Amino acid sequence: MNENPGIDDIRKLFPITKNYIYLNHAGTGPLSILAHQAIEECLKVYQNYAEFTLNEYFSRLQDARSTVAELIGAQPEEITFTPNTSQGLYIALINLPLKPNDEIIIMNETFPAARYVAKYNLPEIEKMFVPFSGQDAVSVVKNNITSRTRAVVVDYVQFLSGEMLDLKPLSTYLAEKDIYLVVDGIQAIGAVDFDVKKIPVDFLACGSAKWLFRPPGAGFLYINRKNFKKLRKIHTGWLGANRENFENFEVDPPLFPDARMFEPGTRNIPGISALKENINILLKFGMKRVASRIQHLKTLLRRGFEESNYKIITPARGPQSGIITIKPEKASQIFEKLKAQKIIISLRNGCLRFSPHFYNTEEEINYVLNRIMESKF
Ligand SMILES: Cc1ncc(COP(=O)(O)O)c(C=O)c1O
Repeated sequence: MNENPGIDDIRKLFPITKNYIYLNHAGTGPLSILAHQAIEECLKVYQNYAEFTLNEYFSRLQDARSTVAELIGAQPEEITFTPNTSQGLYIALINLPLKPNDEIIIMNETFPAARYVAKYNLPEIEKMFVPFSGQDAVSVVKNNITSRTRAVVVDYVQFLSGEMLDLKPLSTYLAEKDIYLVVDGIQAIGAVDFDVKKIPVDFLACGSAKWLFRPPGAGFLYINRKNFKKLRKIHTGWLGANRENFENFEVDPPLFPDARMFEPGTRNIPGISALKENINILLKFGMKRVASRIQHLKTLLRRGFEESNYKIITPARGPQSGIITIKPEKASQIFEKLKAQKIIISLRNGCLRFSPHFYNTEEEINYVLNRIMESKF
């Protein structure tokens, strides 16, 4: 990839753009050629040499950690690699220093990921599932906290409506109250420009399957360094320790004093290397430019839906995600018709969800809008 890639260069990295108008990044992002090559390179090493040299192993991990950190304005040692979002949420929640009967507030509209993790892994903690949708997040929390509230768990972007939380005031309010903020970021990171220095959170869990173009089994958990000392040490293991070589197992080196302690064993180097390549594409183009292109395409979709009087369920005001969703009467017919024309979106709960990425074009959006208008549904 050249240093200043244009949209045509970027589209060449995503072969899916040759065959489909792909507007389903909130469902599943397509793998880039560079990520594919990275995976293949790792598999060749496994095939021909069985393993990486230790230097190569650690430098791949370190490079990828720095790249993930750069994407969200974090420091590398604040990043733990995980296979998916759920595992990141799990590590965050089980490591909170909670006592029996402490409470956590969980956004009721989360994707099932956060709900399941909270419901089944914190038996002694009171869980309060509270609606946030359409409301000011700080007011919601103010109305529901008690003296026992210790954490608030939210999806940054609601997976169906695309409603995006105004996280900054929530972050400020919770920090004042000394309440942990745990965020599921998978529907935001890669689509919006997010920086933990501007909007501090305690934890941000993110899989790569969507806006980070899908390398299998690769994701991350960001842990704000101010929490390192306070956390319990659950979900750690022999590779959560600073091990200089794999020759001497007679002494147990101490755990890393940071987020790396939560990577317990052998890592998914192919997935992590591929994730690094995908994030590099975003960083080379510039995350601000990525986000503003997505917003431009989303605005075109919104305008088109408004002109045709479709019911749009994505709020027009407030912070904007990459998702726009409509609720037409005959959603499944429109969905099938678009699919037959190689236009990929998602059908969820009777709604049609559109989620363009930065390499989609105005022409593609206009084409899709025209196909919907002429569908007479
Ligand atoms: C908000 C949100 N969280 C989590 C997930 C998926 O979780 P995981 O990465 O653990 O499979 C999805 C979608 O699949 C989602 O939309």
